[in-house]
Amino acid sequence: MLNCHYCQSEASTYVRYAKMHLCKEHFISFIDKKIESTLKRYNMIRKNSRILIAISGGKDSAVMLSSLSKIELNLLPVYLDLGIENYSIEARRICERLVSMLGMKLIIISLKDLIGMELSELAKRAHRPYCSVCGTVKRYLLNVVALYAEVEKIAMGHHLDDLITLIFKSLLTQRLEDIAKLGPKTESMEGLIGRIRPLYEIAESENSLYAEYSNLPYLNFKCPYAHRGDLEIMIKDFINRLEENFPGIKISIARYMAKNVDKFKSEMKWMNCKSCGLPSSSECCSFCRIIKRATGESGSIVKEKIKEKIIDVLS
Ligand code: FES
Ligand code: ZN
Ligand code: ZN
Repeated sequence: MLNCHYCQSEASTYVRYAKMHLCKEHFISFIDKKIESTLKRYNMIRKNSRILIAISGGKDSAVMLSSLSKIELNLLPVYLDLGIENYSIEARRICERLVSMLGMKLIIISLKDLIGMELSELAKRAHRPYCSVCGTVKRYLLNVVALYAEVEKIAMGHHLDDLITLIFKSLLTQRLEDIAKLGPKTESMEGLIGRIRPLYEIAESENSLYAEYSNLPYLNFKCPYAHRGDLEIMIKDFINRLEENFPGIKISIARYMAKNVDKFKSEMKWMNCKSCGLPSSSECCSFCRIIKRATGESGSIVKEKIKEKIIDVLS
């Protein structure tokens, strides 16, 4: 085995696109530096900003939190417990372990505490697929937590491979407008906090190594409702083979897309949801529609409950 590029220790891995053999310690610092320069390259945050970190119990958000904890930032880790069978119970335990390992405080928002039911019942009552309700609920709850916690941005753990896969998928399924959502960040507007993707240039395999070398706790099974379509599996396989033959191509596609995602934006007409008052593309936002259908109540009740919780946790 060869020596590390930076020290005399035995190298544990080879980073092909950087042409460097690295020991565990230097691999971790290589990724930390890469994440920090991603924040700068895409102008994601200002120094000392308060950032909401959405953690799920999975390795990607664990890597993001662990790496960002080494930078001078005010981080607010948040776990959304949607009550998905054992998956949510385990994920919650892991998030608690991770956050206490990093010496932080975790905010847990439980769907059952907010509306008296878990995701599966909510989806059944709203007559909508689990994953689509899950996506809407997560986006809405994170935004409301971020608004009341007065954070500058919400950081999501999406990595390079996921983003490139979705870009290719948008091309193949001729849904070019989806590309607009796949850049490194979105800006904030009144009532809607912008998102950042600090792992925009970090590959899935790099996340796995980082989590292993740093001994981070993470869930090694997926949500029982999650399912990846055949097309996505094939694209992922294809881009990984491309990377093997052309090291660095994934990052170069990501950088090119970062400069061009805005070209795929369609003019969105924003209005305020008549039920909760937050920005929406229709008269009533999709979260409020789901809540109304499933519980008969207004989404604004959920908003108020989160507000109380955040004031309580942060005071
Ligand atoms: Fe949302 Fe599985 S995590 S449906
Ligand atoms: Zn080294
Ligand atoms: Zn609403």
